[in-house]
Amino acid sequence: MKIVFVCLGNICRSPMAEGIMKQIEPDFTIDSAGTSDYHIGQSPDHRMIKTAQKHGIDLSSLKARQLTTDDFDQFDYIYVMDKNNYINVLSLAKTDNHKSKVRFMLENNEDVPDPYFGGEDGFVNVYKLLLDGCQRISNAFRKR
Ligand code: 4NP
Repeated sequence: MKIVFVCLGNICRSPMAEGIMKQIEPDFTIDSAGTSDYHIGQSPDHRMIKTAQKHGIDLSSLKARQLTTDDFDQFDYIYVMDKNNYINVLSLAKTDNHKSKVRFMLENNEDVPDPYFGGEDGFVNVYKLLLDGCQRISNAFRKR
């Protein structure tokens, strides 16, 4: 199974999802990317690295990149964090098969809130939401 998680900057939410999913499903191919080019080449936000560390996850070696159309061929599923990501990711899709790979991270198309401009508690909240989301995704794959 090959999964890429997507957010806006690829420095907060999607690297955290990548780290959690690698821990839950070590045999899957897991990656993350951003819809924007704002932070290409940068490490995850230090607040996200710190939150991850508390749960035994090391994000420090990850580097932000931007999602490309090629990713639709490389990955089986593309999980997005919010509705803006969804719109931006779909705009890169070239075929119906590409479009069918795009999913929301959370149930009921709920957003994983962008923690970038907020305080420390936003990062803890993101971790909790992503842990629930990754466990649900993993369970769904195991049932098939
Ligand atoms: P992310 O968070 O999409 O979860 O990586 C953000 C990071 C940077 C910005 C916005 C959100 N920014 O505007 O620079």
